[in-house]
Parts: sequence; C-alpha cells; structure tokens
Amino acid sequence: MLASAGVARFITFEGLDGSGKSTHLERAAAWLEAARVPVLVTREPGGTELGAAIRGVFLDPRFAGMDGTVELLLVFAARRQHLLEVIEPALAAGRHVLCDRFTDSTWAYQGAGRGVAGQVIERVDQLATGGRQPDRTLLFDLPAAAARRRGHSPARRRNAAVDRLDAEAVTFYERVRQGFLDRAAGAPERFRILDSAGSIAATEAAVRAALADLLPGPAGA
Ligand code: TYD
Repeated sequence: MLASAGVARFITFEGLDGSGKSTHLERAAAWLEAARVPVLVTREPGGTELGAAIRGVFLDPRFAGMDGTVELLLVFAARRQHLLEVIEPALAAGRHVLCDRFTDSTWAYQGAGRGVAGQVIERVDQLATGGRQPDRTLLFDLPAAAARRRGHSPARRRNAAVDRLDAEAVTFYERVRQGFLDRAAGAPERFRILDSAGSIAATEAAVRAALADLLPGPAGA
C-alpha cells in the first residue's frame, strides 16, 4: 500500500552490533535530506539527555553483574522519555523518524540474549510505551561471528574502549540474532530482513527498496 503524502513514519533500524544498521541509517537520512524529505535521526539507548545518562550506566563495565530485568527497566525508562520528548513530537510535526534500535532490540538482547520472559517484556512495554510499534523495521542480518569481526560503530568505539556488552561471547550474540529473526517472523508486515553480509552498496540498494512504499520519491529511486 502506498503511503499518503504528509503522513510521518516511524522507522527503526535493528540488528547486531556491527551489522551496519547505523551506517545505513546515516545514509538513508542523507538521501532523504538531500531530497528535502523532513527526517529526524535518533537512537536508543539514548536520544534524550536522560537517555544518554541511562546509556552511560547501561554500558558501564562497572555494572558487569547487572541482571537482565534491570537492563530491561533501564532501556524502557529511556524509551518512554525518548517517545515523550523526541519521537512523538517529531511525528506530530510531520517529520519522519529514523531510529537506531527500539523495542525489538529489547526482545533480542534482554529476551533472547539474557532470558527475560516475554510476558515480562510485554508488561513493561505496555507500561512504558503502551505497546508502541514502528511503522517499519529494517533488520540488518548477518551471522554473529561476522558482526563481531566488524565491531562497533565508530561513535561507540570513541566513547568507551571496552563496554559491558563487549564482554559477551559469540553464543550470546547468536541468541540475539535469532531473537531478531523470531521477532521478524512474528510481524512480517512490519519487518524487512536485509542481508547485511555483502557490500555496503548492495545493502543500501536493499534499504531503498525496503522504504520505497513508505517514503516519498527518493526512497524508490
Ligand atoms: P548501539 O548504540 O546500537 O551500539 P553501536 O553504537 O555499537 O551500534 O547499542 C548499544 C548496546 O545496547 C548494544 O549492544 C545493544 C544494547 N541494547 C540492549 O541490550 N537493549 C535495548 O533495548 C537497546 C535499545 C540496546
């Protein structure tokens, strides 16, 4: 179905650390901005001043013993503030929102990765966001070992030499990858799975195709 002009869309970019999602989010934002499509770029955990502070706690290696449910409560606290302060106001003002990670990351990392029960995630999601879902989610998929070799985004490497999530084994990231794929299988109308193991150019073409029905003009070019 074609989107009617003027409807602002909430689009999330998901995948493992090193999957290329952040690179492709930046590129998509650049071509949309060049075409004068109003977009807001943001990310989780983070996106607000409070969210950035929570992100610092979340990634801090001093808190190595943090329980999965504590992680869950932290990311949803940041997410509620992010929705109230940034995401919903931007959409209401007619700007498309491109968000690096959202609740699917919580299902993958805290659910599949840490073993927090789905019922618990659902309850906290209802409380924090009312079950808010993106209009479209692009999942950048590749094997965990390959993502691991690519490493983190430059921004994250700059900010912390080693963070809490770095300490996890490849088996943890394989569970997380499967968690993302299970989420995608459960909502095929919302998700597009992009093979992220190939070249950046090939994946970028897939990103354009995956957004073509949702965003005006250039997405389909
Ligand atoms: P991110 O900023 O995407 O890392 P990078 O800069 O390397 O792309 O994400 C930071 C970490 O937070 C990442 O390891 C995944 C984790 N995370 C969760 O565990 N649960 C969540 O709900 C979110 C949003 C992120």
